[in-house]
Amino acid sequence: MIKTLTKITLAAAILLTANFQSNAIPQDKKVDPNSIYARIVGQPSMDAAIELFYKKVLADERLNYLFEDVNMKAQKRKQNEFLSAAFGGPKAWEGKDMRTAHKNLALNDTHFAAIAEHLQATLVKLKIDEKIIGEIITIAASTKDAVLNKPEKKAE
Ligand code: HEM
Repeated sequence: MIKTLTKITLAAAILLTANFQSNAIPQDKKVDPNSIYARIVGQPSMDAAIELFYKKVLADERLNYLFEDVNMKAQKRKQNEFLSAAFGGPKAWEGKDMRTAHKNLALNDTHFAAIAEHLQATLVKLKIDEKIIGEIITIAASTKDAVLNKPEKKAE
């Protein structure tokens, strides 16, 4: 009797473990200690930066008409998630790719330069380390062709 009970308990334990493993949530990727994400820990938070950035964007008449019908709470969350991923954070970006996200907006170089200007001014105002600001602007600039829906550059 005891033997049978032990067997049943063991079988149940094995089944439970197997089920737990198959339902396991995939592990977030490890954060590289040299990434921007790791290095901005202790600097003013992403939330503060995103708030200030969109305050500037919405006060700018070159840009604000584009956000008239946009849910800004969702936009701020998405931008936070996108940038956290781009800075080497543990969670992959699962939203739209930059070409798709902006393709119906008819954006031009002036829009892009204005966004980059507000991003830089935000980071300076929050006293983010100068070297990190340079790296963030480089990442933002790398999205330009996609955001403006310019033809993709062919690999040589
Ligand atoms: C540094 C370059 C940029 C980055 C990294 C960026 C990032 C993003 C992200 C992550 C989204 C959300 C995508 C989704 O729904 O999954 C988005 C949407 C949007 N972006 Fe940008 N963006 C950039 C440049 C611009 C520029 C230059 C403008 C012009 C004002 C702009 C205007 C918008 C608007 C209006 C939406 C909302 C679209 C909608 O919900 O219909 N973005 N962007």
